[in-house]
Amino acid sequence: MNTVKTVRELRAAVARARSEGKRIGFVPTMGNLHSGHAALVTKACQRVDFVVASIFVNPLQFGANEDLASYPRTLAADQERLLQAGCHLLFAPTVDEMYPHGMGGQTRVSVPQLSEGLCGASRPGHFEGVATVVSKLFNMVQPDLAVFGQKDFQQLAVIRALVRDLNMPIQIIGEPTVRADDGLALSSRNGYLSAEQRAIAPALYRVLRQLGDAIASGERDYAALIAAGQQQLDAAGLRPDYLEVRHALTLRPATAEDRDLVILAAAFLGTTRLIDNLHLDLDAHG
Ligand code: PAF
Repeated sequence: MNTVKTVRELRAAVARARSEGKRIGFVPTMGNLHSGHAALVTKACQRVDFVVASIFVNPLQFGANEDLASYPRTLAADQERLLQAGCHLLFAPTVDEMYPHGMGGQTRVSVPQLSEGLCGASRPGHFEGVATVVSKLFNMVQPDLAVFGQKDFQQLAVIRALVRDLNMPIQIIGEPTVRADDGLALSSRNGYLSAEQRAIAPALYRVLRQLGDAIASGERDYAALIAAGQQQLDAAGLRPDYLEVRHALTLRPATAEDRDLVILAAAFLGTTRLIDNLHLDLDAHG
């Protein structure tokens, strides 16, 4: 697996693969890779012949008081993990390479409606930063398909919308969340948790599952369910940011008639913000 740092080298390597008749897959990441990321690469490898991953901690998607400076940068370990997963090319640009004219005047991509609420409410500008960098990366790599984790459910919805609205000929694949044995969704930010917090963290998914079970059994009073869920999170030692039942495609608040639902949650453990979700297709439950 080759690592390149410039757009020029990236384009040359992808052009070579294309000239050999290969289809290109892409897995954008911010590094500090875990088995959830490896699963995205594995999925891409199953679908195409040449898989490009990127590692770029994108300043544009971090708020002023967020963890941009402390976000873990673990390039050597990440390269090893990507190699093991079957990745063919790693693009690991600098901030200057990605934003050579600075970020102030950078053209932005914004996806209204889907970016509002949920994480968009707690992290103003976050999805604009994500949509902008993903658009740039898509233009640099020009993949046939790109794979993203379903853990970032709202992000995946935003990316599907931008690809559709900007007519990008890229297939977007969402891969199921990879979890630890106790249910905690794998995330680079789990590394911030103390041992005590790590023991509390699985409560987030436990509460999502309890709500999911209640809805699958016919409960439709979402407001009451959410209030109960928030109490459970509180009692476990998590500080809820949001807990919501939404329509899985549009992300608008769910109605009692909706069948394709997603329960989305974000909660703080100390200063660490964890997110998770549970997709609930009621028709699939019979
Ligand atoms: O999910 C992430 O790691 C990031 O938001 C992404 C998609 C790589 C854009 O920086």
